[in-house]
Amino acid sequence: MHLKIALLAGDGIGPEVIDQAVKVSNAIAEKFNHTIEWMPALTGAAAIEAVGDPYPDKTHEVCLASDAVLFGAIGHPRFDNDPSAKVRPEQGLLKMRKKLGLFANVRPTFTFPSLLDKSPLKQERIEGTDLVFLRELTGGIYFGERGRKDDGNTAFDTCTYTREEIKRLAIKGFELAMTRSKKLCCVDKANVLESSRLWRETVQELEKEYPEVTVSYEFVDAVAMRLVQWPNSYDVLITENLFGDILTDEASVISGSMGLMPSASIGNENALYEPIHGSFPQATGLGIANPLATVLSAAMMFEMSFGMKEEGGLIRKAVDQSLADGKVTEDLAQQGSTPLSTSEVGDYLVELINKE
Ligand code: IPM
Ligand code: MG
Repeated sequence: MHLKIALLAGDGIGPEVIDQAVKVSNAIAEKFNHTIEWMPALTGAAAIEAVGDPYPDKTHEVCLASDAVLFGAIGHPRFDNDPSAKVRPEQGLLKMRKKLGLFANVRPTFTFPSLLDKSPLKQERIEGTDLVFLRELTGGIYFGERGRKDDGNTAFDTCTYTREEIKRLAIKGFELAMTRSKKLCCVDKANVLESSRLWRETVQELEKEYPEVTVSYEFVDAVAMRLVQWPNSYDVLITENLFGDILTDEASVISGSMGLMPSASIGNENALYEPIHGSFPQATGLGIANPLATVLSAAMMFEMSFGMKEEGGLIRKAVDQSLADGKVTEDLAQQGSTPLSTSEVGDYLVELINKE
């Protein structure tokens, strides 16, 4: 098969980790007789510098012409420390999500047997954890009305959801639950927020269409607590944009390193795959960034966009093997052992794939 993949490396460590995912994907393509046409395009601070827009129209066209988008990271401290900056790299990400219609953000959290001791949580609590968040990505407080009142001393951000927006995300959640343990948790704050009550109402309606799925409704504050107490009691969780942003960062520490967890952002027409970590500006160019989250995002791309389970499986197998062999970057290296560089980890994965 011929695969057209838009390549948005972005800022900070983005380009370094993306390079490893490209190497690994090329090795997979060769093994399974696919050809990949990489279509690089600018995003984030790099795009602001070049053309003054963090998600230029040209990049959007490249994404639309592709079969899938592989994305690194965006963000630059130059903008973080300047609250008055008119254009920010993060706006590029939000614009991209909205324009590509990527309304469902799939963020899995799982553990690796060889890394259980890396987690800040007790081993017996996290063993067997395998959960997936479906975070709504194009609505809520991220996109609602916001502003300052006249005197400049009052600011507001509004969380708005339509029944349709909730429904299309919830349907993805029910469908995913049907392929897993048929357990779905709806995370909201329905004891306080009207938008959450609409979430609950909409999900309750849908329950009738999926009688096999057991749905629990839990408040976001309680989930934040139970997620680190009993992570393995969850399976599929659906939630609105901001709750999902916060909870998925919390969930990511369970596996032991932020550099491990992949994600997919899907819509009806387009799909984008990216590591859940950020641009880690302090590490830029040092060769210490862990590329595994991006490599695993490429695995998700093969599986979800191209239906290539075997290809994705082989990437996952190589990742597991590299972890078991201790061929890892410094965030995961055992004390006393020499860590590999970002690019050496990529090379090792390619070697493992070629040996299969
Ligand atoms: C994420 C990030 C983004 C978000 C930022 C960079 C805008 O935190 O993808 O989780 O808040 O959605
Ligand atoms: Mg986030």
